Amino acid sequence: MSRKIDKLNGLAVITGASSGIGLELTKLAAADGCALILSADTDLTEAERAAKDAGAASVETVQCDLATERGVAALLDAIGKREVDALFANAGHGGDVAFLDQDWQEVEHIIATNVSGTVRLIQDVGRAMRARNRGRILITGSIAGHMPGPFQLVYNSTKAFMNDFSVGLRNELKDTDVVVTCLQPGVTDTNFFQRAHMLDSQASKSDSKDDPAKVAKDGYQALLADDDLVVSGFMNKMQAMFADVLPDSVVAQMHRKLAEPESRKENEPA
Ligand SMILES: NC(=O)c1ccc[n+]([C@@H]2O[C@H](COP(=O)([O-])OP(=O)(O)OC[C@H]3O[C@@H](n4cnc5c(N)ncnc54)[C@H](OP(=O)(O)O)[C@@H]3O)[C@@H](O)[C@H]2O)c1
Repeated sequence: MSRKIDKLNGLAVITGASSGIGLELTKLAAADGCALILSADTDLTEAERAAKDAGAASVETVQCDLATERGVAALLDAIGKREVDALFANAGHGGDVAFLDQDWQEVEHIIATNVSGTVRLIQDVGRAMRARNRGRILITGSIAGHMPGPFQLVYNSTKAFMNDFSVGLRNELKDTDVVVTCLQPGVTDTNFFQRAHMLDSQASKSDSKDDPAKVAKDGYQALLADDDLVVSGFMNKMQAMFADVLPDSVVAQMHRKLAEPESRKENEPA
């Protein structure tokens, strides 16, 4: 039986809603008239206003650090016993520099946000969806998950986890009416690079970064259409495809060119 729908309704929970792709997902769910629970680890005033302007039935905000058990518990508490119709597991961040130079607290925080906290949230909300045989989960992975990622090593590895996790969870739920879709963006014009201290990288300096509104729309539509995954944008589809067929060592070197700080490159032997 088709699990395709034309629009969302009911309660949608969106993590990483304060900016970028999450803010755009928020506007889309609001335009469908959903009640929203928005979460991020900083201020959500702008997201709340944007959601109300776009037509959300209601908006609640939960400011919490999803890298911590306390943060995940705060979001789960806010949801309480309510039925979640759609979960947008979107919060995530990266971090620059070579792995051995990276601060351990930052490494832990990337893994805890992108993987542990996100997976914990999905398990709790997903169990309730399975119990009533209804619900949709959009996981924001990345085309970075197709690539061994020098100078974004921990980040890319978390996204490889989430890309695979998403497709595997979808398979576990294939005989139910719970839909799991993975959104895999490429380089997108958001706060991501600033937060990851990557402003000095070729990726960040690119003038062909994707529009977060378009990326969010691709993910949102794929979720409604019951697609297993969507790589947003033609060039990103090509990049992901080549990353899957080229030798990993070649892909790693290509990624290095994109992510390594430009100032560091200047000091490398030719
Ligand atoms: N931009 C890209 O090139 C790109 C490419 C592929 C995939 N992605 C993925 O897309 C998703 C959204 O990122 P974006 O590009 O839209 O970047 P963004 O503008 O920096 O948004 C990231 C969102 O995640 C939230 N967040 C980060 N760490 C958190 C934590 N520990 N607890 C709670 N919230 C946290 C941020 O909240 P605060 O702002 O409050 O900190 C923000 O709302 C991420 O999963 C990212 O990995 C991005």
